[in-house]
Amino acid sequence: MTMRHFLKSTDFIPGEVEDIFALASQLKLERGHNKSKDLEGQSWALLFFKSSTRTRISFEVGIKELGGNALYLNKNDVQISRGESITDTAKVMSRYLNGIIIRCYDHSLLEEFAQEGTIPVINALSDFLHPCQIYADAFTMAERWNTNGAMLDSLKGKKIAFLGDTVCNMGNSWILGAALFGMQLALAGPEGFEPHNEIQEVLSEAGLEPTWAFTTDPLEAVAEADAVYTDVWVSMGMEKEETERLKILQPYQINGSVMAKAKPEALFLHCLPAHPGQEVSKEVLDSPTSIIFDQAENRLHVQKAIMATLAKS
Ligand code: CP
Ligand code: NVA
Repeated sequence: MTMRHFLKSTDFIPGEVEDIFALASQLKLERGHNKSKDLEGQSWALLFFKSSTRTRISFEVGIKELGGNALYLNKNDVQISRGESITDTAKVMSRYLNGIIIRCYDHSLLEEFAQEGTIPVINALSDFLHPCQIYADAFTMAERWNTNGAMLDSLKGKKIAFLGDTVCNMGNSWILGAALFGMQLALAGPEGFEPHNEIQEVLSEAGLEPTWAFTTDPLEAVAEADAVYTDVWVSMGMEKEETERLKILQPYQINGSVMAKAKPEALFLHCLPAHPGQEVSKEVLDSPTSIIFDQAENRLHVQKAIMATLAKS
């Protein structure tokens, strides 16, 4: 049997995503009653090369709530920091663990680990993709829009606008996610921030038609949008470009006048951490249609469902 991994949003097909969302809903309802113990007797590690608040905590808590044992390993805790290969690390860790969650820079590290190890690997963010985040985001929107049918049905045909750093891991993830969830994606960023071929190739490999359009005009992108999304302008690892980025991305700030161009009830989403006054105004972050903390909470429920699914496959 081929080992399943979750390295990119398209690693599950829509029917599986629907099942994951249904399980996440059930886990959310039963939280505190400790019914589901899908990781009983298992040990899952988190191997992190970058900082994290939400991802680390939601995975550690999620593993423990599913009856498993969670180990957090910063890169400095393991011999990778002293030159041990990813291949050897993957082979060794596979002898101890039942699954691993990795946050790294180069996406190829995840692929190498998955190739060389014998345990499920989950992408907890790479420079290229952040699939756990957009599954939680889609689940959160579906909770708001669902009319008691299938959760994915409530996303179909909806327009999401993504403003700012359209070539970062979140922009890339939305290109895959929008196609997977049946949404239209309007990307708005400066010239030179058009999606790269690499992400288009992942979409094609998954057999999905692109559902995105790119514009340099932020107001064109948000026009009639059902949801408006942004991410930090300086992702982890991009710190050297901070001064330039804060300047060229300024026209893409989401504020009250930008939100006014979207549908009146449009949701505002942000993966967090946020920088009020940069990519989004405080007014929008704190507005009634901002669902940022529901997104953060749902990371826990959705990731528990993803781990339970991988553990059974
Ligand atoms: N959204 C997100 O992944 O947050 P952290 O970097 O805090 O994990
Ligand atoms: N694009 C951001 C996402 C943080 C959750 C980063 O990579 O830093």
